[in-house]
This record gives sequence, C-alpha cells and structure tokens, in this order.
Amino acid sequence: MKYLDYRIFMAAVALTLAGCDDAPTATESKAGPVDWPAIESPVRTDLATEQKVADLLAQMSVEEKVGQIMQVEIQHISPEEVKVYHIGSVLNGGGSLPNRNKHATPQEWLAMADAFYDASMDISDGGQAIPIIWGSDAVHGHNNVIGATLFPHNIGLGAANNPELLRQIGAVTALEMRVTGIDWTFAPTLAVAQDDRWGRTYESYSESPEIVEAYGRAMVEGVQGIPGTSEFLDVDHVVSTAKHFVADGGTEGGDDQGDAKISEQELLDIHAAGYKGALAAGVQSAMASFSSWNGQKLHGSKYLLTDVLKGRMGFEGFIVGDWNGHGQVPGCTNASCPIAINAGLDMFMAIEEWRDLYKNTLAQVNSGEISMARLDDAVSRILRVKIRAGLFEKGRPSDRGAAGQDGIIGQPAHRAVARQAVRESLVLLKNNGGLLPLNPSATVLVAGDGADNIGKQSGGWTITWQGTGNENSDFPGATSIFAGIRDALEQAGGRAVLSKDGSYSEKPDVAVVVFGEDPYAEGQGDIDTVEFEPGSKKSLALLEKLKSEGIPVVSVFLSGRPLWVNPELNASDAFVAAWLPGSEGQGVADVLIADADGNPRHDFKGRLSFSWPANPLQGRLNPQDEGYAPLFPFGHGLTYAGASSDLGVLPEDVPGVAASGGGDLDLFAGRPLSPWRLFVANDQSSQVISGYYAQIPGGGMTAELVDKDIQADAVKVNWLSDGDGYFFMGDAPAMDVSDQAVAGAALRFDLRVDSFDGEGASLSVRCGEACSRSLDIDVFLKASNGKGWTTVSVPLACLSNDEADFEALLEPFRFSVTGKASMTFANIGLVKSGENSGWCDPGASPVAN
Ligand code: BGC
Ligand code: BGC
Repeated sequence: MKYLDYRIFMAAVALTLAGCDDAPTATESKAGPVDWPAIESPVRTDLATEQKVADLLAQMSVEEKVGQIMQVEIQHISPEEVKVYHIGSVLNGGGSLPNRNKHATPQEWLAMADAFYDASMDISDGGQAIPIIWGSDAVHGHNNVIGATLFPHNIGLGAANNPELLRQIGAVTALEMRVTGIDWTFAPTLAVAQDDRWGRTYESYSESPEIVEAYGRAMVEGVQGIPGTSEFLDVDHVVSTAKHFVADGGTEGGDDQGDAKISEQELLDIHAAGYKGALAAGVQSAMASFSSWNGQKLHGSKYLLTDVLKGRMGFEGFIVGDWNGHGQVPGCTNASCPIAINAGLDMFMAIEEWRDLYKNTLAQVNSGEISMARLDDAVSRILRVKIRAGLFEKGRPSDRGAAGQDGIIGQPAHRAVARQAVRESLVLLKNNGGLLPLNPSATVLVAGDGADNIGKQSGGWTITWQGTGNENSDFPGATSIFAGIRDALEQAGGRAVLSKDGSYSEKPDVAVVVFGEDPYAEGQGDIDTVEFEPGSKKSLALLEKLKSEGIPVVSVFLSGRPLWVNPELNASDAFVAAWLPGSEGQGVADVLIADADGNPRHDFKGRLSFSWPANPLQGRLNPQDEGYAPLFPFGHGLTYAGASSDLGVLPEDVPGVAASGGGDLDLFAGRPLSPWRLFVANDQSSQVISGYYAQIPGGGMTAELVDKDIQADAVKVNWLSDGDGYFFMGDAPAMDVSDQAVAGAALRFDLRVDSFDGEGASLSVRCGEACSRSLDIDVFLKASNGKGWTTVSVPLACLSNDEADFEALLEPFRFSVTGKASMTFANIGLVKSGENSGWCDPGASPVAN
C-alpha cells in the first residue's frame, strides 16, 4: 500500500482548515506565545482511503452530510430515523441500555447494533451506504454491560503506574465491547485533575501530567491496537476517544463543567499532557470538554479546537461534542449551534432535540452560515475514521469477530488482568506494628458497608450512570472484597466473618473494615471540602467501637479521591487506600493476606498519584502549588519490603472540619444517597429507579431522570393508570435520623407538578409501626399544576404522631397518588429547621408559588 507523506497530508489538512477561515468564527481566546508541540500521527493515511473519502463526499447530498455529523442517543432515535436522516452515529449514555433493560444480554446489544447498521446501509430510498458508528462509555471496562470485567477506576490505575498494564486493560475492554457490536469507546479520560472536590477526580489517572501522558498513549494503543500493525482497528479493537479537550480537570474549585482560569502555558504543561500521549498513539477521536477556558466554552473555541488541536498539534481524527455540550455555548441552544461546527467540532452529541438540530444545521449550511468547506472537512474526518476502522468491510456488527461470543465477556483471563490491576493500585498509608499482612489462619471480622458491596467498590459509571441502585446480583462473576478475603483465608485454615455493623459473637483476631464514598458520577459527585463524612463520621464510629473492644483494625478505604481522614487513620492500625477497585475484589486479599508461612503473597505496588490532604480545605493540592503541605505527598506509599516506622497520632483539630452532629441530611441529591433507594410501585409490584429509566410491570408508572439545575438531577414520575401508585424512598435498614429530627425539622423537596388529574394524593413518612400520619395534598398539587418548580417544606411534626421513632426511620418520603399525574422531584432531604409551606393543614388554602 502506498502511503502519502505525512507532511503532504497535513498540508492538505491545513488547506481544508484554511478553507474555514472565511466562515463566521467563534469568539477567540487570546493566544499567548506558547509552543504547542506538533505530534506526528503514526496513522498514515493512504491514497485508497483518501480516494474513497473524496468519492463518497462527491456523491453525498447536503442532507447526508449533515446527518453524518450527528450523533444521537439511542433512547431518542429509531433505526427508521437513522435511515431517513442519514445519521452518522449513535451513542448510549451511561445506564442507557437496549430496550431500557438493565440486564440486556449481548444478543440484545447486537440486535440493536445490527438494526442501526442495517438502517445506515439501506439505500432503497437513494443516497450512499455509510455504516453507522456506535459510541459508548466503556470507561473502566465495558461498564454498561452486565457481567463485564470492571477495572479499577482511573485514579487507582494511576497509583499502579504501569503503562503496560494499561495497554492490556485497553485491549480487554475493546474485545468485550466487540462482543456487543460496539465500535467506539469514549475513553480514556485525560483530565489532570487539580482540585479533588471535582466529582470526576476518579476518572483522572493523576494530578501529574507525566502519568497522564504515558497512560494516554498506552490506553489508546490498547484500545485501538498499535498503528502500522495488523491489529490496528481490527475486529478485536475499537476506536478510542481522548477526552475532554481540554482542562476539564483544571476548573476553578473543581466545578464540573466549570471554568479553567489559567494561562495558556499551564494549559499546555498540565492539561494537554494526555493528548500528547494519545495523539502519538494515533487516537482517532477527541471529545470537546463541557468546561470553559478563561470564560469561553470549549465547544465554541475555534482557537483550541481548530488552531491548537487540529492545527498545531496535528490531530487528524474527528472531534465529537459532549452531551448537548454545544447548547452551552453563548448564542447556541441544544437545537442550534453553528458556532460549534465553525469552531471545529466535527460531530454533535445530540439528545432530545436532534431533529431540530439537524434541520437548523442544514439551514445554516444552505445559507452559508456554516461553509460547505467546513462541513466537508468534518464529514471527511468522520469517514476517514470509519474507513480505517474497517466499518465498510466488516459487515453487520453481529458478523464481526468476537460478536455474540458471550463467553468472552468477563472471561477468567480478563478478570485476571483486572485482579492484577486491583493489587497494583492499593496504596498502603499506615501499618503500625506490622499488622499487615494478616496471618491466613486468623479469624477475621470483615465489617463496613463496603465489605460485601460490589456496587460500592465499583463506583460511578457502573451499569447505571451514577453507579447507584445496583446489587451484588447485578454483577455475575464478580467478587466482593469480603468474598476475596474469605476465599484466601479458607484455603489456609483461617476464617472470615462478615458483619456489616461490626457485631460478633466470638471475638475475632482482627477486623478489616471496608468503608468509604458511595457511588457518584459527573456533577453529582462535586463536594465542598475534602473531608470524609463531614458531620456524621458514621464510619469512624465503627472503627472506634472495634478499637475500644481491643480488636486490631485494618481500614480498606474506598474512594474516588483522596479525602481528609485523620480521625479514621487514628482509629486504624493499618490503612489502605483502595480507590474504586471494580469487579475483582480478590485483588485486595492478594496483598492483605499472607501465605501459610506468614510472608506476603504480593507486596504493595501502589503509590499516590494524587497528594493526600492534611485538612479538609486542601481540595487543591498539587506538588507545583504554592505552600504545598500534604499529609502524604504525591508518590507516597508504604511497602512490606521497605523499612517503615509507625505513624503517630495525627492532628484532628485542623482548619475546615465540619461541626459534628447531624446537619441537614440529603436523601436525594441528584442521586439517591445511600442507603436509601427510590422506587415506583403499585399494589402489585415495585421497581427500583436505578439510573435512567424505570417502569413497573404493566407500565402503570414510569420514572425517568431529567435536568433541573444540572444534568439529570431530578426524577420525573408518571402515574399512568387510574389506580394507586407510589413514589417512595425506602428498602434500607431502619435508619437513625434522630439527630436530624429535632423540633422544627422538616422534610423538604423541590417539586414541579407537570399535570395532575388524580383523585387523591398524600404524603407520608414511615418510621416503624404506628408512626405514620399521612397528609392529604391533592389541593396543593392542583394549585401547583403547571406552575413550575416550587420548594415544599413540611415539618416532621405534621407527618408523624407522638410515637414517631426517628431512631428507626424506614421511609423518609412516600408520595401516593390515585389516578393520573406527572410530577418531577429534586433535592429531597431532611432539614433541621424548615418553614411550613402550608401543606401541614390540608384545610388551609394553598399558597401559590
Ligand atoms: C460525559 C462524557 C460522556 C458522555 C456520554 C457526558 O456527560 O461528560 O464523559 O462520554 O456524557 O455519556
Ligand atoms: C451521561 C448519561 C446520563 C445523562 C443524563 C450524560 O452525560 O453520559 O449517561 O444518563 O447524562 O442526562
């Protein structure tokens, strides 16, 4: 095959770029005198590819071209529409699954992939047959699919600092994707997170650009295969995405989708590092960041997308937008954004309003607001990647390589790679008296709410978007941390006893307590300070109880970021940062439990890829920051082999610690907060709302996530039958909220009544027998109908009788409706002092919003 000289090719690209100069441009950021490196792509384009692109382009109608630059979410488009609009791509968002079935089989995924593919190739009504490409967030394994191998989230991989392992992880992930017929992953995330309050810190390999650069390269090579070899984008590999360009991890205060107020030099030195690696590996797509650089949204930055990424850095793949990210550019909406295309975006990621976006974009091309040269460049970039990925030749998704071979998903060889990654990601922070490794013949109490909880150890982006609402039975083939410890001990004559709350009948030799953050994902994981369990210190109580009983305590801390845990460190004899290890919990036992002779089976290899805070105010804590004073510096980590001295008592009275005792208690803040879960139910059955969409059998009630202040932070509940239907939080062990339920405390939530034709409605809480009083609220719902959002606050005194036992609250929120209605809820919580919005007295006339 003849290769074009790279420089000739880039000159052609430059010409195309020049072609867009007369297009109306996005507002420009000021460029400094910064030397952006030119990265030579190892993916050489060849004449045949260029000829094919040119031929297709010459024959495509403008409608086909506009369709080609649209990517639509699978819940919002049918195969028929793919055909009619000539759509170039689909995606499934996190937790958005074929047939809305959480347990969709590989065959269901494939059937959907085939249906979209067939539609894209159907030219019975004219046009060109251009295979569609499906993108998915396989960000720690093929995490939307039941039974997939789940790797530690990126923060843990960063601690392992092993690029070769990353390459294997990329390859395994790609192969498991192939089984389900998906061609493209939205990974790796190359954020270099600088402020750990950001809820996506765990998607970042490191606060250090070096690790992210090396990993960007290794992961892309693993996912796509090595350019120039026969494995490159063959049937076992998929297209990779470098995201989110650029400085998603550099926003002020760690705000998700926020603004990085930094110099261009810092942009290059810190945040572009991963792109150097990924481009050198030939990454074929990049995703624009939701965030801004010095006030300008990346989706509208011609300077960064076109001049820097495509021009100076030489990126020759295509740039996809983030989830309606174009709609956030000033002057744009979700349904119209010529600015983004003119800035250099090549593919819109569009959700509900894609039809209008299509029509408007078409009109903008026809009017010249988007130049044909720019459209052709975008389409060419997409076609080139589709050709390289072999989509024109590989046939239907179900006919390609590993497609449909279920046994590949979660196969032992894949799990072994994940287990190794777990082992290597663990960072030992304390080991007083050499408590670890544990004697394998010991009796070990395994406690804490993370001990036997695969959902918790896997974090966000796990089957559901936020990672909430999963149970161990949703993870066939996976192993909890407890199960791993049990198996290791049983082989050596020891014994593990599972006890979530730390109670026991026979005193154990030692306790391993597994605790930490509950799952979260973008937006909803942002926090104010880096204190673990501010105010409540629930887990600390368990550690202190065991300690006071004379039991040595090993803490295994699950978290998506370093957090201030001085009290928990003080209450532990040994402390391991385990991050979010994923499906292979045995990796923890591999390192914690010794062999029969008492020698370690594996030593600790993990070193902090993020600095560990000495107080709750150190959300931003990086070696290059002024006044850098961490508790444990970047690169820290103890080993069995190394000499280690005991860690003394750490100060607990440091700046920024939250007042103790119960403050307000969130129950639903963008996601149900553990242990509560949300349900829709009728008298026959109930269905947990986990992720995107839920309905009860028969369809009498449905629930879906919708946007209020940020993405998907509200639940819209539809009562579709004439009977009774309930929306409630529950199914948790009775919880002690007596701290919160003081005089004047109230249940507070945001409500939007979208329609109400009910015959009756009531609100209640349930706390054991004889506690509940329910309030009739239909008069208020009727009054609020169609009036938009309102905040409702109902004193607990109105919702309970004198017997109320708030030490054992079962259901903090139950909304019952008879008849048809549609209502949207957000921010549900118990507040210590809440006013009375009038609902207490059903006789009273409703207060208008
Ligand atoms: C996230 C991306 C993700 C996309 C598609 C966005 O909200 O920021 O990382 O790839 O959704 O699910
Ligand atoms: C995520 C989806 C999620 C959606 C909700 C997106 O950014 O990628 O998985 O369901 O937001 O709006």
